[in-house]
Amino acid sequence: MIQETIVTTQSSEGITHIAPMGIHVEGDSLVILPFRPSTTLNNFVETKVGVINYCDDVRVFAGCLTGRRDWPLQSAQTISGKFLECALAHTEVEIERIEENTTRPKLFCKTVHTANHAPFKGFNRAQFSVLEAAILISRLDMLPLQKIESEIEYLRIGLDKTAGEREWEAWGWIMAVLDNHKRNANR
Ligand SMILES: Cc1cc2nc3c(=O)[nH]c(=O)nc-3n(C[C@H](O)[C@H](O)[C@H](O)COP(=O)(O)O)c2cc1C
Repeated sequence: MIQETIVTTQSSEGITHIAPMGIHVEGDSLVILPFRPSTTLNNFVETKVGVINYCDDVRVFAGCLTGRRDWPLQSAQTISGKFLECALAHTEVEIERIEENTTRPKLFCKTVHTANHAPFKGFNRAQFSVLEAAILISRLDMLPLQKIESEIEYLRIGLDKTAGEREWEAWGWIMAVLDNHKRNANR
């Protein structure tokens, strides 16, 4: 199973980096697969630790892909690092081993600490729509515009029916990036 999370890492100078990442759950292991080049990967190689944040504020996902990476943080409890203030829960991890790959190495993580901060309040279709749309705009240069537009049209159905303020705000950021991409494609 893959869980969509926000991974927070730190450089050796202590600069925190925030990035959405799908975490592969394999038995007791949590596996992170960053595509090269990746600041998340570089930070894990340098410091061997990081935080997996379980977060239902989809603005963080959309924000990271639209130039809004400055989200409130708190100090991690057992490692040198930070977790997201808006996380419902977070897991502090250490890298056990790295399976090298020129495109997408596998980082096998061991959980060293987990904390719950707020209850899970159920699934929301608009949150799914924002996550999927965020993934689409992370692939703008790889996917045909027609495919992106037809998927956005479908995702808009769940958004229209179920979004709250956070989801609408996140959607707006994504649509601005898409509009800009379309303008450039028409030049
Ligand atoms: C829901 C979601 C899941 C993602 N999962 C991954 C992932 O597993 N690996 C990856 O390299 N990028 C993933 N991305 C894209 C990265 O967040 C984005 O490209 C980011 O800038 C990663 O590079 P960085 O480590 O340099 O920040 C995902 C994006 C979204 C919205």
